[in-house]
Amino acid sequence: MTVTIVGSQLGDEGKGALVDLWGGAADVVVRYQGGDNAGHTVVEGGEEYKLSLVPSGAVRDKVGVLGNGCVVNPRTLFDEIDALRERGLDPDVRVAERAHVIMPYHRRLDGIEEEAKSESGDEVGTTGRGIGPTYEDKVGRRGVRVGDLLDPEVLRDRLEYVVPQKRALVEKVFGLDADEAFDVDALYEEYREIGERLAEEGMTVNCSDFLYERRQAGDEVMFEGAQGTLIDIDHGSYPYVTSSNPTAGGAATGSGVGPTVTGRGEVVGIVKAYLSRVGKGPMPTELDGDDREETLADHIREKGGEFGTVTGRPRRIGWLDIPMLRHASRVSGFTGIAVNHVDVLAGLDEVQVGHAYELDGEEVETIPSTTERWARCEPVLKEFEPWPEVDWTAVAGDGYDALPSGARDYLNYVSDEVGAPVYAVGIGPDRAETIELHDPFEG
Ligand code: IMP
Repeated sequence: MTVTIVGSQLGDEGKGALVDLWGGAADVVVRYQGGDNAGHTVVEGGEEYKLSLVPSGAVRDKVGVLGNGCVVNPRTLFDEIDALRERGLDPDVRVAERAHVIMPYHRRLDGIEEEAKSESGDEVGTTGRGIGPTYEDKVGRRGVRVGDLLDPEVLRDRLEYVVPQKRALVEKVFGLDADEAFDVDALYEEYREIGERLAEEGMTVNCSDFLYERRQAGDEVMFEGAQGTLIDIDHGSYPYVTSSNPTAGGAATGSGVGPTVTGRGEVVGIVKAYLSRVGKGPMPTELDGDDREETLADHIREKGGEFGTVTGRPRRIGWLDIPMLRHASRVSGFTGIAVNHVDVLAGLDEVQVGHAYELDGEEVETIPSTTERWARCEPVLKEFEPWPEVDWTAVAGDGYDALPSGARDYLNYVSDEVGAPVYAVGIGPDRAETIELHDPFEG
């Protein structure tokens, strides 16, 4: 039995809170894609942990695995592990030897390409963590993998092949100076030492074998998707996407567990009760334009704390987008959903959702495949009875039926449209502020 947690929107749906809630029943929590572009905030007993690479299960003494589908910046990894140790935790993190390493030149190239694209207004708005350039090298068969760090000779060979190419790209194509991020000797020394630390701490694994053995021994495994469906490289709003597959299929390819295994388990889509987006790309239900709407967006942004965990950027805000959720549910095959931040919409004068889109005079129910057509979509809005502010701590204690009726109508509607039952409702940031209707590990 596995549980896969997937972001249904554009990332930042509050997945960490659910991973933390349900991770209690899991022995192993696996990230299967992405890298330190993710931002997980886990609140436990009033303590806040901000993580970008270490799986959030590590806060609860689980084994955290970074699967082969991840791109790993070892500097970030060790910084996070050291910081957690300083706070008295002892995270057990394993890294797939098949995962690719984010090298300093990847981060530089991420910035350089964004800068170049921005001249024509085409930048993606990446997190600047080198994610795209690292996946490019993976697919281009010139990447450095975690396993390569363990073998100095192999590491040297890989660097000697790839670094001069990167240097030439910076100098000859972009006309910039290449710094120490493009120096083979300096890179070799630093990354060989990183390999030694990884080996000393016994952190590297053959991910597929490791998970097979843990499952054979009866362990429960949770897959923790980072980012969200609409920034998936295949199913998102290309090119305004990240370079991996946050959708549920990625759990199999990104960890070496068969799709029959993840497919027999539960796939839970995490939904935020409204929409936020960092970076560029269409957002038909975006709240902008006239002053009144801007005030509403500002209000939601402040109340929901909608500022990037990784970059601190203010997020764009919109009403819940149902065509997006239908798409997400189909792509990942949701067996259930969790809806977060329902409290943030409380006390508004109006609550709306984008029920469908109008595109070229026709009503459409899911997201068009091209980003240009999606950008032309106008939302067909549906109004809901607003719900008041209440004592959310009391509601959390009393359960689902204690939610204001407007909020329950909203949740029932979302569940019907997505075609999956509500497993949990988030009404505040702490784990105790999540109403649980069903634990997916109970099947
Ligand atoms: P990258 O993943 O840094 O290459 O960024 C590509 C796009 O994905 C940009 O629009 C980012 O803002 C977005 N993105 C990446 N990671 C996250 C995340 O964890 N939450 C929300 N957006 C993200």
